[in-house]
Amino acid sequence: MRNEYETAVLSRILPNDAEREESHQMGKKLIDAVFEVAGVPAMMTGSVARGTWVKGDKDIDIFMLFSPELSREELQEKGLAAAYAVVEKFGGTSEEKYAEHPYLNAVIEGYDVDLVPCYHVSSTAEMKCAVDRTPFHTRYLIDKIAPLREDVLLLKQFCKGGGVYGSDHMTGGFSGYLCELLILHYGGFTQFMEAASKFRYGEVIDIEGYYPDRKSVRALFTEPLIVIDPTDKSRNVAAALTPTRFSEFIELARDYCEKPGSCYFIPDAPTSISKSEFSAVLERRKTALFALSFKTPEYVADTVVPQLRKTMETIRAMLIKEEFQVHRAEVFMGPEHSILIFELLVAELPNIIVREGPPVWNHPNADKFVAKYLHQEEFAGPWISEDRYYTEVPRKYITAVSLLVDRKKIFSGALGKHVRLSMEEGYDVLVGEDIWSEEFAFSLSAYFARSSHAVRKMRQLCDE
Ligand code: UTP
Ligand code: MN
Repeated sequence: MRNEYETAVLSRILPNDAEREESHQMGKKLIDAVFEVAGVPAMMTGSVARGTWVKGDKDIDIFMLFSPELSREELQEKGLAAAYAVVEKFGGTSEEKYAEHPYLNAVIEGYDVDLVPCYHVSSTAEMKCAVDRTPFHTRYLIDKIAPLREDVLLLKQFCKGGGVYGSDHMTGGFSGYLCELLILHYGGFTQFMEAASKFRYGEVIDIEGYYPDRKSVRALFTEPLIVIDPTDKSRNVAAALTPTRFSEFIELARDYCEKPGSCYFIPDAPTSISKSEFSAVLERRKTALFALSFKTPEYVADTVVPQLRKTMETIRAMLIKEEFQVHRAEVFMGPEHSILIFELLVAELPNIIVREGPPVWNHPNADKFVAKYLHQEEFAGPWISEDRYYTEVPRKYITAVSLLVDRKKIFSGALGKHVRLSMEEGYDVLVGEDIWSEEFAFSLSAYFARSSHAVRKMRQLCDE
């Protein structure tokens, strides 16, 4: 039984028969065109092929199935040539994209079409690249999911409303395929929501029963949610779901089951912060906010974001090692610039720092340590505490800024490859209100407004 909110949201997001027919015709036309220009079969994959797309999101995925005898280079070459020829035939526009290998993202007759070359293999065991798996997803689900389409759409829209839809790196949430498998396994939206509100870390779902028990699955996978791919037992479909998004989903599901409402299906409208509001917030928090700003590397977000995070973690560790307590750190990738944000409890430390020496019984090293600091008169030490020597020495980085602008220090750490190259061309260290810019007005607002989605839904008084 659907509640009133679910009925209402379905009337908004369920594609009608005419739309369904129209996208099927479009798919057929594209498949015929691939055969015509390249002489290879093609198939429509993704949510449009399965009738599980949310109204308005009609991206058509066409997989062109090439002989497994081709080398990777030949596949790329023939694949792109075929894709360009198809786009040309329809007078569309296109842009090359890079996943595991290049594919074409095109706009054809108003549709967003991905033309992806892959190998025509007869089972996932013979896969030669990761995209070869995708056609199997559609073959597996197409009939099974048909009676559950509405339930899939509700779950997808619920995930969108809660900010947990998408397996890209920035989101780390639920992919469309994952939503479909979860609905298939639990038999409906309501059943899944009830189960999810009781989920614990390390949940196992093995639809095809490939493994004898949960224990043997947990020995192979460590993610919070483990959904064995029915088309490939070695893969966890929920591998991209982060522990945070998993926990956020549990909170959302729990709240929704207790008290449903329409706001759970509506994504939060992004808010922005003005420069004066930004200064006022800093004044209120009395923390020390710093940002490293540089040009965004020209790669897709799924490549750049993990590199930004890695770089942020390296610099966070440097700050902590130098005794600057990091309250929070965050990365934002804008179209022009990327920023790494560090919010510290204090920006300046005293002139002294304690240095740990060797154990007293380590005679040669102990002597060296004592000799080195023997004539240091301005500070205390060396002294013994329990088994070791310690001494006070002058601190190298008195201010956090002095560390952040020390290029030699920063570049000595493990930074993401493309991020490092961009930073080597130059990076700025911004302090306090100077961090604000038009480009990050939305991101910075989100930074200060941090709260889980369910908490925000509760504040919105869902029953309107
Ligand atoms: P899409 O990202 O277009 O997902 O990938 P979707 O299932 O069509 O969902 P929406 O409605 O557009 O959001 C197309 C297909 O590629 C495979 C899946 O089979 C998916 O259905 N895929 C995509 C993966 O296996 N893993 C991914 O991370 C992304
Ligand atoms: Mn899709």
